Amino acid sequence: MAHGEHGHGHRHDAHGHGHTHAHGHGHGLANGEDEELSFAAPRPGDQKRIELVWPFVREQLAGLGPGSVLEIGCGVLGGFVPLLRAEGHRAVGVDPEAPEGPGFVRSRYEDYKPDADELPYDAVVACLSLHHVEDLDALLASVAAQVRPGGLLVLREWAREEFDEATACWCFDRLPEEALGADENADENAEGDADENAEGDADEDPAARTPAWWLAGHRQGWQESGGSWDDYFQGWAEGHGLLSGAAMLDALERSAFETVLLERDPYFHTALVDVTADEERAAVDAGVIRANGLRYVGRRRSG
Ligand SMILES: C[S@@+](CC[C@H](N)C(=O)[O-])C[C@H]1O[C@@H](n2cnc3c(N)ncnc32)[C@H](O)[C@@H]1O
Repeated sequence: MAHGEHGHGHRHDAHGHGHTHAHGHGHGLANGEDEELSFAAPRPGDQKRIELVWPFVREQLAGLGPGSVLEIGCGVLGGFVPLLRAEGHRAVGVDPEAPEGPGFVRSRYEDYKPDADELPYDAVVACLSLHHVEDLDALLASVAAQVRPGGLLVLREWAREEFDEATACWCFDRLPEEALGADENADENAEGDADENAEGDADEDPAARTPAWWLAGHRQGWQESGGSWDDYFQGWAEGHGLLSGAAMLDALERSAFETVLLERDPYFHTALVDVTADEERAAVDAGVIRANGLRYVGRRRSG
């Protein structure tokens, strides 16, 4: 999976741009594929992002009481699953890169066959995974069939089309010192995917050790492109098959979920260690940059 704020290891994803053999090996695709999985360590910033997004997820689910919750694309750290379980939910995280252990299944959602006792879900949550999905309409139809009427879909996403030149430059001006020496593998860094030898990168490249590593990758990728930001970034996003925020919202509009909350929120502060969410929001409110975060809650329509 690609993009901006993440990066893990080997991707067996819808876009086929998986490519890391970072660390560890595992077997156990839920769909029975006898394929060896290699998976990576988390990238800097992953844990911070989970912690910053969790209060939003927790608040949305508060009214449900303990229930059955699925996380799509929980990531190598397990995303919200441990936190959901601590709240009393029966939570399962599905991701080709999910950690080992109870509550995790190493699989794409599309290939996952839930146990009967998981269904119907009371809620499905996802953070930065749906923009990687190849056929979001099909995925949402499948999710809708597994969520009970009145159940929730809670998403935190990236509206990557809002990452315009002014926003990018604002971020680049705030990169921490160690991120300025981005390594040579700019595209891989920009992708946010973990890439060849992620461990080695982190050892050798100070930029790879900061949560802003992917922003540093974009800065360098743009410089090296020699072209406009728009051409560089659009080419990058389309090259990786990343859905835009608008495309995701269109698919949600067509789905069996009724929108109950839709907000744009600060996005880059999870990567820019010296920037707070309030400072980023102030820059958005002043019209200096665009809000790149999307928060969505949908309720499964009955019938
Ligand atoms: C940017 S990471 C986010 C991980 C985690 N949610 C977080 O916020 O730290 C995107 C994750 O989505 C997963 N992913 C992408 N497409 C998926 C799919 N079709 N089914 C399950 N997981 C998927 C990737 O493997 C990756 O771990």
